[in-house]
Amino acid sequence: MRAGNGLDRPLEGRHIMVTAGPTYEDLDPVRFLGNRSSGRMGFAVAAAAAEAGGRVTLVAGPVGLATPAGIERIDVRSAGQMMETVMARVDDCDVFIGVAAVADYRPAEPRGEKIKKTAETLELKLIRNPDILATVAGREQRPFVVGFAAETSDLESYARGKLEKKNLDLIAANLVGQGRCFDASDNALEVFSRDGHWSFPSQDKRSLARELIELIAERIELSET
Ligand code: CTP
Repeated sequence: MRAGNGLDRPLEGRHIMVTAGPTYEDLDPVRFLGNRSSGRMGFAVAAAAAEAGGRVTLVAGPVGLATPAGIERIDVRSAGQMMETVMARVDDCDVFIGVAAVADYRPAEPRGEKIKKTAETLELKLIRNPDILATVAGREQRPFVVGFAAETSDLESYARGKLEKKNLDLIAANLVGQGRCFDASDNALEVFSRDGHWSFPSQDKRSLARELIELIAERIELSET
């Protein structure tokens, strides 16, 4: 049986915004800084939220994935564009799920012309991108906020640190690196709240996303009673 309100569509009547995929930070007109996120987990989460009856807005970085049925998808490229798109739509949002692997830094001075190979070494100056998840969670009128954490070690302590620091309701953490996770069809998740811990063993990302959405619906319901 489904969690939440015990109905088949526990997110009925709610607006869920999901970020997914990587962001690309342009260095010049032909090069960018990116990362290995495939977007598959975020797209699976968006699909599961729609299956659970939610109205879903999916803000997607550059990925080669088909849009799940019944979802509004907005494509963006950079962290700055993702932030702008999210903030323009967050007001009526009930649940925000940040699955995107947002670039933490961007080139300080992207070039208008292609960088030519003249010098033997090239130094890049990077500046911090704003944190979309923390910005959403820091608002006065805030939705229920769920973050993701991809770690190469010390999963629980890093995840709990991010939960606290970014003022999240839930954080879903997984180990990456050494062949794990990126672009794989399966994943495992450890989910933490301030007072709880749930382990979802390795499984297809679509079924994992359904389990996560069930938990989110259940936690929202609890927080409202
Ligand atoms: N996130 C975000 N905006 C950013 C950076 C991250 O919304 N500019 C969100 C991601 O979508 C994810 C979570 O924050 O939900 C990841 O947290 P973060 O602390 O950024 O993780 P890492 O980038 O892995 O941090 P670190 O490199 O310090 O481990």
